[in-house]
Amino acid sequence: MKTLVFLTIFVITQCSCDETIEVNLKQGVVVGKVKKTILNKQDIYTFKGIPYAEPPTGELRFQPPKPHTGWNDYLEAFKNKPTCMQFSSSMRNNEPFGISGSEDCLYVSVFTPDVKGNAPVIVFDYNDQFRTWFNGTKTYSPDFLVEEVVVVVTISHRLAILGYLTTEDGVIKGNNGLRDFILGLEWIKDNIEQFGGDPTKVTLMGSRGGATLAELLLYSEKAKGLFSGAILQSGTSLEAMYFSKNLKKKAFQLGAALNITAADSKELLEELQKLDAEKILFAEIDTIDTESIDLYQISSFPFAPTIEDEIEDAVLTTSPEDGKIVNDVPVIIGLNSREGLDAVPHLIFEPNLLTDSLEQNIVKLPIRTNFRFLHGSSKYKEAGKDIVNFYLEDKSLHYGNILEYAVYMGDVFKNYAVDLAAHKLASGLSSDVFYYMFDFRGQWNENSQFMMTRARSSMGHHGATAGDELCYLHVCSRIKKSYDQILNLPSEQNEVKVMKKMVRLWSNFAKTRNPTPLKDDSVLKGFTWKPITKDSEADYLHITKTLKMKTNPLGERKKFWEEFLEKYSKMAIDGVVGDEGSEVNAPAGDEPKEVDEVKEVDEVEKGLDDASKEEGEKVYTFDWFDENEENDEEEEKIIDLTPSELDWLVENVEKGDDIIIVNDPGDDINNTRDEL
Ligand SMILES: *[C@@H]1O[C@H](CO)[C@@H](O)[C@H](O)[C@H]1NC(C)=O
Ligand SMILES: *[C@@H]1O[C@H](CO)[C@@H](O)[C@H](O)[C@H]1NC(C)=O
Ligand SMILES: *[C@@H]1O[C@H](CO)[C@@H](O)[C@H](O)[C@H]1NC(C)=O
Repeated sequence: MKTLVFLTIFVITQCSCDETIEVNLKQGVVVGKVKKTILNKQDIYTFKGIPYAEPPTGELRFQPPKPHTGWNDYLEAFKNKPTCMQFSSSMRNNEPFGISGSEDCLYVSVFTPDVKGNAPVIVFDYNDQFRTWFNGTKTYSPDFLVEEVVVVVTISHRLAILGYLTTEDGVIKGNNGLRDFILGLEWIKDNIEQFGGDPTKVTLMGSRGGATLAELLLYSEKAKGLFSGAILQSGTSLEAMYFSKNLKKKAFQLGAALNITAADSKELLEELQKLDAEKILFAEIDTIDTESIDLYQISSFPFAPTIEDEIEDAVLTTSPEDGKIVNDVPVIIGLNSREGLDAVPHLIFEPNLLTDSLEQNIVKLPIRTNFRFLHGSSKYKEAGKDIVNFYLEDKSLHYGNILEYAVYMGDVFKNYAVDLAAHKLASGLSSDVFYYMFDFRGQWNENSQFMMTRARSSMGHHGATAGDELCYLHVCSRIKKSYDQILNLPSEQNEVKVMKKMVRLWSNFAKTRNPTPLKDDSVLKGFTWKPITKDSEADYLHITKTLKMKTNPLGERKKFWEEFLEKYSKMAIDGVVGDEGSEVNAPAGDEPKEVDEVKEVDEVEKGLDDASKEEGEKVYTFDWFDENEENDEEEEKIIDLTPSELDWLVENVEKGDDIIIVNDPGDDINNTRDEL
């Protein structure tokens, strides 16, 4: 009996091992595998882990990628390569916490229906804030799209510090992660024909950070001619967290955290190249400014794409706010109906984590603006009230309305920016922009379903949160059982219906640049997805079990933010909304200090006191007594403020007054502020 079982297994294994396929490239011969798709059990061809660049290690660390020169004999492209090294902390869908991946990581993978065909190409990328990437087909497998006769390619690219650290002077260039991706697109242009792909019909399809990446390439001269369509799912470069400032300082701060004392950028680079990559990633934590989100109302991700002003071979020279689109291609852009659930999983899993400070510090800005609030000022409090009154029916945050709070968080971290991007692209592009909101809830909403299993409070049973749409376009391998189950039921389930529609819309767009080109499509049944037109509010496709065109996915929430931003930006003086006579306020916890003396100090000599200060600039010092300090030593603190704050202080503060220190006195306030 035992022997029989053994034999059966043996036969199956041998059979799948034998089915390989060879493709000839200039680099050498690649051997791929034949695989049966999950839906129609059709043969497709997979090539996993073909190197397109030399490993960016040693002296190539923090350098632009170098094209891979090739190999002798055969390259067996059978297995997913490790992701680029990353530190993940979201634990979404049970992802491992901590560092994973490898520095040697610049590979493409190709999935094709037929190496002799001429199919359009979709380049799929999923990343989160340029910090984490997905684990190849272990996470998302492209069966559905390939069955529609599309070649799917993934390009792994460097992430976070290893991809985006910059000294802003050309020594360590920012955007090496973007450079990787662009080199990968060049590889596709040169090689995809051998896999049955059409190099003139490449569509970028990005989710979250992947959408931001694809959108940024619309502005990049270096990406010209490398793609002709883009699909942007739940991400945009207009999100407030991108384009931090003072990156050079961050780079040196990172060096300091690693005990590197470098005189200049070159020395910093050399020292950083000697260290263990993992050690560098761990040091990031020492560069994070945890209070900044409350103080400046936006979170900041400094190790992400950046504008390279003066650098030769720059890939990005303008921000999307000011930039002119140089790659005018048709775009699909959209979001999921409940993105915000994913912003507060900790509260959904553990409502007891809800504290008063969450409501006190509720004010956040949904996009980069020309102002911030003076934290704790009466205008700050007014803005908080505006938000609470609009989003929370009970006018205060408590266990019972975490879901309303999640709507706010979704809007402020994702939805408002994506909606703005959709309309900005529609007016900036001469090509069509198709807008959608994915609002279906079924067994394949991987993230929502995962959250449900851990939720202590109710999440409701409708809508889709971050990443849920992906499992209707790809096979989300971690929930493969659920696909097997649902696909094997005798009647076609809603999940399958929605998946077929999504896949058809996306692949139609890849083929024709129009998601609904045919009236007699058997899946879409005559439905037409109309692009955004300049004179209508928002023509968007509402995706549930059915497809419907509707207007304005955010409803009243969009108007709320437009009015909010307009109201407060008008109140800003030198970029700060505070109020007459407001105290310089502090995050909770800082003790008031008594001012001893206010004096205007002499001009700072360049190079002496603080290299960042300009010669001739006036700096005020306020001396104070610190009652809590045992030693009687007098300390002198320098406070940098905006000109209006300074004026106010100089005029109003007298000896003996209590003042509250905005930041730790050791901090350079200006720099913290500028970073945001
Ligand atoms: C990817 O898979 C490998 C091997 O199973 C695992 O060690 C690693 O932690 C995974 N990484 C991510 C980001 O899921
Ligand atoms: C830096 O030096 C300090 C003091 O010697 C040490 O405690 C710390 O572990 C070092 N940090 C790193 C990242 O090597
Ligand atoms: C601090 O910021 C103000 C206002 O933006 C600016 O005028 C001043 O030059 C900055 N000071 C330093 C030291 O960077």
